[in-house]
Amino acid sequence: MKYSSVLSVLAAVSAVSALSFLERAQQPIMNQVPNLGPAIPPPSKDNPSQPPADSDTVILSDVLGRDRSINIFAGFTRDITSITQRLEDSTQNTTILAPINSAITALPRKPWEDPEDYDNLGNQAYEGEEGEERARRNMRRFVEAHVVPVSPWKEGDKVKTLAGAEIWWESKDKKKFIQPGNIEVSSVASQVYNGQVWILKGVRNYA
Ligand SMILES: *[C@@H]1O[C@H](CO)[C@@H](O)[C@H](O)[C@H]1NC(C)=O
Repeated sequence: MKYSSVLSVLAAVSAVSALSFLERAQQPIMNQVPNLGPAIPPPSKDNPSQPPADSDTVILSDVLGRDRSINIFAGFTRDITSITQRLEDSTQNTTILAPINSAITALPRKPWEDPEDYDNLGNQAYEGEEGEERARRNMRRFVEAHVVPVSPWKEGDKVKTLAGAEIWWESKDKKKFIQPGNIEVSSVASQVYNGQVWILKGVRNYA
């Protein structure tokens, strides 16, 4: 992953203040282990979903980058092989909860920064090869916390994100809110053969 380019996108972000989006201390440790899932979907016997799309069917990997208001998050997903494989897989449905650019740039830290890493390792936490690997892991967890492995996703249905936490959504005044966290969904950006892209006004906690 090109952290330098991500860094420049987020150069304006202050790295100092409090860490609301990292408030995951209450999450059990298990939930923080990324669930990468199989790189290749199991044979259809175990996976009774829809058949593969033909080559001119539009799928998530075709549309995620189209909406400029979520292009920071779209860029993050492209650096994570397990995610790009999923979005290219027409037999697996996905709801992507893509935080709007301004929600990411407003974060008090960069999405791959974890205050625990700074506590344990100091300012060098993301330097060198190990540091880069650590940042990559954190970034994957951030993205996976915004990927729901079902679509359509019905109101109130509790589903685990790829990062492991159970989430659902409810409607209030005709708006959708992701729970827990009460994060408003501003719109559904795309609906394609293997899922939907929802635009979020905020970011989810890591897990
Ligand atoms: C996947 O999404 C399509 C809509 O694009 C839907 O028709 C199909 O039933 C979904 N499959 C599963 C397994 O949810």
